[in-house]
Amino acid sequence: MKRLLLLTPGPTQVPPRLCEVLGRPIIHHRTSQFQAFLKEAAEGLQYVLKTKNDVYIMASSGTGAMEASVVSFLSPGDKVIVAEAGKFGERWTGLCKAYGIEAQVIKATWGKSVPSAEIKKALDADKNIKAVFITHSETSTGTNADVEGIGQVVKDYGAILIADAVSGLGVQDLQTDNWHVDVVCSASHKGLMLPPGVAFLSVSPKADALIASSKIPKYYFDIRKYKKAWAQVDTPFTPSIGIVIALVESLKMIKEVGIDNMLAQYARLAQATRAAALALGLSLFADKSAISNVLTAIVMPESIDAGKVLKIMRDTHGISVAPGQDAVKGKIIRIAHMGVIDEYDILTGIACLEKVLKQLGHKFEMGVGVAAAQKVFNP
Ligand SMILES: Cc1ncc(COP(=O)(O)O)c(C=O)c1O
Repeated sequence: MKRLLLLTPGPTQVPPRLCEVLGRPIIHHRTSQFQAFLKEAAEGLQYVLKTKNDVYIMASSGTGAMEASVVSFLSPGDKVIVAEAGKFGERWTGLCKAYGIEAQVIKATWGKSVPSAEIKKALDADKNIKAVFITHSETSTGTNADVEGIGQVVKDYGAILIADAVSGLGVQDLQTDNWHVDVVCSASHKGLMLPPGVAFLSVSPKADALIASSKIPKYYFDIRKYKKAWAQVDTPFTPSIGIVIALVESLKMIKEVGIDNMLAQYARLAQATRAAALALGLSLFADKSAISNVLTAIVMPESIDAGKVLKIMRDTHGISVAPGQDAVKGKIIRIAHMGVIDEYDILTGIACLEKVLKQLGHKFEMGVGVAAAQKVFNP
């Protein structure tokens, strides 16, 4: 018999304490009992998001919150900037295109991030830019955006700053208010340790002021509906009741440890994974300047197909890591450090990676990866 260890950057493992809550009988959502859960969930999300802004909760995967932020603040023909550093940056561009928004794409080579100076240059060149879209943690490459630097720039212009924090929230620091991020989109199934099904977004007063003038046709993802319902501590449509209730428990777990302690813990997991990869003679895909604590993208030796590595890890040993996408498919594997993943999970993942690399002919001394990670955990 084999158990499956999920070291993938979403969905992540659901801890037993949350499985217990998810297994409870459902309650009706138009009740004061559920209203109390909704209110607590929104307050807990404000804590993790480090914001006083309103938070709207919806039933969808993370892309729903992204779509809501495109359709609710903009109008067809509006000009925006998209900082594109990987697959999920491309999603912003695709969403803008779908709704007739003119996106000026500033691309970074995969593994790097877009410098804030380039955003400033683009904002200076066109005073009609309505929004700047960024990806807090670019999951396809294991990099971070310079959210703080870009926030410092955008706050002085008329544009709003919209961040996809689907994979990074609760794992890599995001100071929504201090860093002037107007809209943050995220979801339940990554750092928050839950199944997919709840998405949410925070909305600053600067972004809120744009809602009334937005002319994009919309229905389910229309923030006006969520805002109106929220005035009565309600949602416009049936929420993911069970997951919202479990979200309250997940946020309690995060509060018990403290968000900044959690972030420090993930930084250590990331540091150990990087050390292990280097000790095994492998290289890291992300540039040092933008490297993320959310996940580590490791480049496999040229002679070894990364797809084969992760297939053996998963199918033979029950350890699931993520593949590379598009141009890096077959070249990298991605190991997550989020949610309930701890140092023993990382050590197990590295031990398994060593076994599989050895089997596929990579030359190294067995155990050096695990030893390098242990050194980080036990300095
Ligand atoms: C950074 C990022 N943005 C957006 C998404 C899309 O989220 P979903 O698949 O939940 O719609 C993901 C999912 O992996 C992600 O990692």
